[in-house]
Amino acid sequence: MPFTHSPRLASATGRGPRANRIAKSLRASCLAAVLATPFALGLALPAHAAPAANAASEAYVPDVGQAGKDVIWVPTPQTMVDKMLDMAKVTPKDRLMDLGSGDGRTVITAAKRGLTAKGIEYNPDMVELSKRNAAREGVAKQATFEKADLFETDLSKADVITMFLLPTINEQLRPKILELKPGTRIVSNSFHMGDWEPDATEEVKEDCRTYCTALLWIVPAKVDGTWKIDGQTLQLTQTYQMLTGKLGNADITDARLDGKKITFTANGTRYTGEVNGRSITGTKEGGGKWTAKRA
Ligand SMILES: C[S@@+](CC[C@H](N)C(=O)[O-])C[C@H]1O[C@@H](n2cnc3c(N)ncnc32)[C@H](O)[C@@H]1O
Repeated sequence: MPFTHSPRLASATGRGPRANRIAKSLRASCLAAVLATPFALGLALPAHAAPAANAASEAYVPDVGQAGKDVIWVPTPQTMVDKMLDMAKVTPKDRLMDLGSGDGRTVITAAKRGLTAKGIEYNPDMVELSKRNAAREGVAKQATFEKADLFETDLSKADVITMFLLPTINEQLRPKILELKPGTRIVSNSFHMGDWEPDATEEVKEDCRTYCTALLWIVPAKVDGTWKIDGQTLQLTQTYQMLTGKLGNADITDARLDGKKITFTANGTRYTGEVNGRSITGTKEGGGKWTAKRA
């Protein structure tokens, strides 16, 4: 296999927390470096590893590490695929999109869980391979694949987006992702999205040697600004899902968004609510309802 990792790094879990952090960061930068230089890597690969122009046939077998438009192909281990879908709490009502869908494994797994799932993949041979894989697994209707550039794809219909790309690409996609409907779940294999902290991070230990960290973000509602609650001013300052601000003269604490759900504490009372455009409605801990309107 042309794309492998140092077993010393892969066995980092036996070390102390600091060594683990270093090993993890090396591991991430290792893939980042390799994924970012597909053509450099392509040179180091055997001749058969280059994308074959005429390989769109039953015989097409992709090589781990083969060049892609913006990222090479490295498949997500199946245990990670399962973890990523679990973290997104997918249900059959969800529409999933995998950006850079490779051999189709995430899309096919989602379809087997009853979702409508679509893969966006630039390499036409991989698209055809994915279609064959989906047909073989009996989910060709629910799992579809499109030969397209992920940067030019409309993401607005997705409830869940999965990706195994690069930190730089995740960051490039971030403004578009933040415009998606609140509550859209994004799950990335291993790579962050700049300074947008994930809502959850989980490690997979079983049957996963490298790239075993799943990161989840939930697109937050937009609440930054001034609101009125029963004649009082609620001033919110939003940084992604994190909130600071004041209710009247009191600072709010433990304030955050989980998609459309907002929670904060003010004057010793815990507020929970749902954001719907220009209004928020919810309940106060201990009883009572509250409504906020955009000022
Ligand atoms: C690291 S692989 C991940 C494959 C799959 N998502 C998985 O987790 O197994 C990245 C994939 O993105 C594809 N890709 C690279 N640049 C792309 C682009 N601009 N648009 C669509 N797909 C792209 C590559 O061909 C490759 O299959």
